[in-house]
Amino acid sequence: MTFLHACFLLWSSVLRLGSAVPLKRADNCPGYRASNVQRSDSTFTADLSLAGTECNLYGQDLHDLRFLAEWQTDSRLHVIIYDKDEQVYQVPEFVVPRPGGSISSDASQLDVSIEEEPFSFTVTRKDNNEEIFSTKGSDLVFESQYLRLRTSLPDNPSLYGLGEHTDSLRLPTSNYVRTMWARDAGGVPQNSNLYGTHPVYYEQRVDSGYTHGVLLMNSNGMDIKIDNDNGQYLEYNVVGGVIDLYFMAGPSPFDVAREYSEITRKSAMMPYWGLGFHQCRFGYKSVDEVAAVVANYSMANIPLETMWTDIDYMDKYKVFTLGENFPLDRMRDLVSDLHNNNQHYIVMVDPAVAAQDYDAYNNGVAKNVFLKRSNGSIYKGSVWPGVTAFPDWFHENTQSYWDNEFATFFSADTGVDIDGLWIDMNEPSNFCNYPCGDPEAQADNAAQVEFGNNAPDASRRVAHRSLTRRAGTLQAQARTLASRQEDGSKKGLPGRDLINPSYKIKNAYGILSNKTVDTDLIHQGGWAEYDTHNLYGTMMSGASWYSMNKRRPDKRPMIITRSTFVGAGSYIGHWLGDNISAWDQYLTSIRHLLQFVSFFQVSMVGADVCGFLENTNEHLCARWTVLGAFYPFYRNHNVDGAISQEAYRWASVAAAARKAIDIRYRLLDYIYTAMHQQSVDGTPMLAPLWMRYPYDGNTLAIETQFFYGPSLLINPVTQESSSSVSFYVPNDVWYDFATYEPVPGAGRTITYSDVSDSDIPILVRGGSIIPLRVRSAMTTRQLRDQDFELLVAPDNNGNAEGMLYLDDGESLQPSGVSEISFSWDGDTIKMDGSFGFPTVLGVKSVTVLDPEGPQKYDLNEGLDGPWAQNVADLKKL
Ligand code: GLC
Repeated sequence: MTFLHACFLLWSSVLRLGSAVPLKRADNCPGYRASNVQRSDSTFTADLSLAGTECNLYGQDLHDLRFLAEWQTDSRLHVIIYDKDEQVYQVPEFVVPRPGGSISSDASQLDVSIEEEPFSFTVTRKDNNEEIFSTKGSDLVFESQYLRLRTSLPDNPSLYGLGEHTDSLRLPTSNYVRTMWARDAGGVPQNSNLYGTHPVYYEQRVDSGYTHGVLLMNSNGMDIKIDNDNGQYLEYNVVGGVIDLYFMAGPSPFDVAREYSEITRKSAMMPYWGLGFHQCRFGYKSVDEVAAVVANYSMANIPLETMWTDIDYMDKYKVFTLGENFPLDRMRDLVSDLHNNNQHYIVMVDPAVAAQDYDAYNNGVAKNVFLKRSNGSIYKGSVWPGVTAFPDWFHENTQSYWDNEFATFFSADTGVDIDGLWIDMNEPSNFCNYPCGDPEAQADNAAQVEFGNNAPDASRRVAHRSLTRRAGTLQAQARTLASRQEDGSKKGLPGRDLINPSYKIKNAYGILSNKTVDTDLIHQGGWAEYDTHNLYGTMMSGASWYSMNKRRPDKRPMIITRSTFVGAGSYIGHWLGDNISAWDQYLTSIRHLLQFVSFFQVSMVGADVCGFLENTNEHLCARWTVLGAFYPFYRNHNVDGAISQEAYRWASVAAAARKAIDIRYRLLDYIYTAMHQQSVDGTPMLAPLWMRYPYDGNTLAIETQFFYGPSLLINPVTQESSSSVSFYVPNDVWYDFATYEPVPGAGRTITYSDVSDSDIPILVRGGSIIPLRVRSAMTTRQLRDQDFELLVAPDNNGNAEGMLYLDDGESLQPSGVSEISFSWDGDTIKMDGSFGFPTVLGVKSVTVLDPEGPQKYDLNEGLDGPWAQNVADLKKL
């Protein structure tokens, strides 16, 4: 940067008016002073030094920092503030790879400027000089165990993301704290940290209509405060790591999502069958009971694609074992019966391995893969089987350990030949509070607290007390990093208190180590659990992906996990954890779901249909079964001890399931196409109304309606005691999906009455062409033999378009794919694209919606006029 350029930037940022500058805080922190400011074509660097006396708010102030801004693409700016010696922990690249890239700042939508003393930086959108992030007026605090960075925001900002949470989709703007610390959060309460951590937010600016996104790539525990007590702001309070920010310029909400997918990597494409209907529960007591559920679905004529088994199949909840009621020969019969019927089977694997004399534990000990205390002993906690050890995913042997357990236990020839995988308890969850003195006793307690009357029988968790370590002997462990950590860079400063940092994040379990493994454990290679806790579930996901991939190298692994971090969606899907069978949670599932699919690039997501904890009821279960048909991941799951809730248990739920699955399956290729699109370019397959209509202020806070794929607006009933629903219809052209009638009232709220328990109002957005299978089927394998029909919903100009992606539904790298685009200009339907997927199927009919009423054209009945030239093409895809 030239001197003049720097002066200009400084002055222009000083003179920029209109953004509220919060007053300085009264905690006497000196902030930093910038020097050696240098700007090149694509980078901006400065040295930062502490500008006064240390304030040591919650640790030791660091004196010398570096500021680096890199223009990586025309829409992505990376800004990192890190310690000069590069000792402070940074999220390892091998866990979350970074996108990199370099571009001339001239070509970017964003600019960055700094003020030297007190140091602050401001990111602006060049187009309109909008300040999208500015730390002016607040001092950076960078300490050994505490970071604070604040950006001022416009009044009443529209912020989204910062999950995982069940709070409002559009985040509160005052007195609000989002805590990032992965936690086994039974009941998925609001205002609480949950299973995963995604420190990224999307902001919609109302004045300009532009959207941008900001990611803090940091895996430490943190509180992100949003408040307006001193001007409107967002403030990061982090107990470690560095300030590692990615700014995404948008300018539309979908652009931000796509730009974010360059950081997270693209979401994993799931197998076609994964979009079928799944049944699970905690508490199936035998393989016979599981088989009976499969048979009951068949008798009830409800399509069941995949049967699941929870930890009940294990011998006393020990991973990689079979219990006496789940003998291997019967399990293999179950799986082959399912496979013969084109159905699938999934079971759960937890990370915690029972610390008992059995193969999975002994193999882990032999390979040295379990997390250890600083004295070299294996760290013991307490999970379902009682006393357990926890794999250290950083260990060089852990992948091969995991691979071997999978290859043996899940062998197609001699083991349980699963089709997909469910991984759980990977926050990691531990029933112990810190210190985990008597893991077994704490396990009973914790299960009661978590599950109440539904707590599994404690006698089913067999204690092997001889292996239980006693409290006092373990408590006196050193609470500082082991010496081996001190030699590597970016692994964490030595001498920190890794159990009790002075800054207390608002972890709902209290101190960091409660209900998880101790945060002073050091992983192989020197990384502290304190810094990497939030990565545990994602690292287990990655390892499990590779283990599943080795079993069936050419097939896409379908893995559903509970704990996630930035980038997890490139391996796995996610279920929304232990919800409650309650009406409010049926509703909050929508905003919880949208966070992941629309903002975090985890596309395969769904809540436990009918609810997990506590007893469901017929009406709730029916409504939830219908709503769940529009989750990407559609699974009924229930807690041990609650009343049974399979879809065939009540006539009304069975009817709702048949109808909802019928619609879902006929639309399966439409949503599979949307999922494929997300896996290619990050376009979210589901979206809140706000993302499609960002200029319509009425949409900003709507969180009970959502787009399923690009064209269908889903509007579930929102009141438990009501069969009518009022919902917002943006100013556009709409048709009712059930009646094909035009829907008037665009730009206002309309009401649907008499919505039965089997129904859900669905609107088709004008301008869309939707491919549907002509009829549904009992399995997705049969569904794939059905021809297509097209539903054309013209926009105001009479035009419409749509996509259809076809492949074999399961290969990691399909040899032939078809990517077909359809368009309608009022007279003619055109088909274009590539047609590499061999199929005998074609389009049987086209229905064009119209205010005068729908027109259905049967392509077998020789059509005249403008249609004629296309019919032959369409009839064969
Ligand atoms: C956890 C899971 C739940 C599962 C249970 C038993 O609570 O979240 O889905 O049923 O463990 O494995």
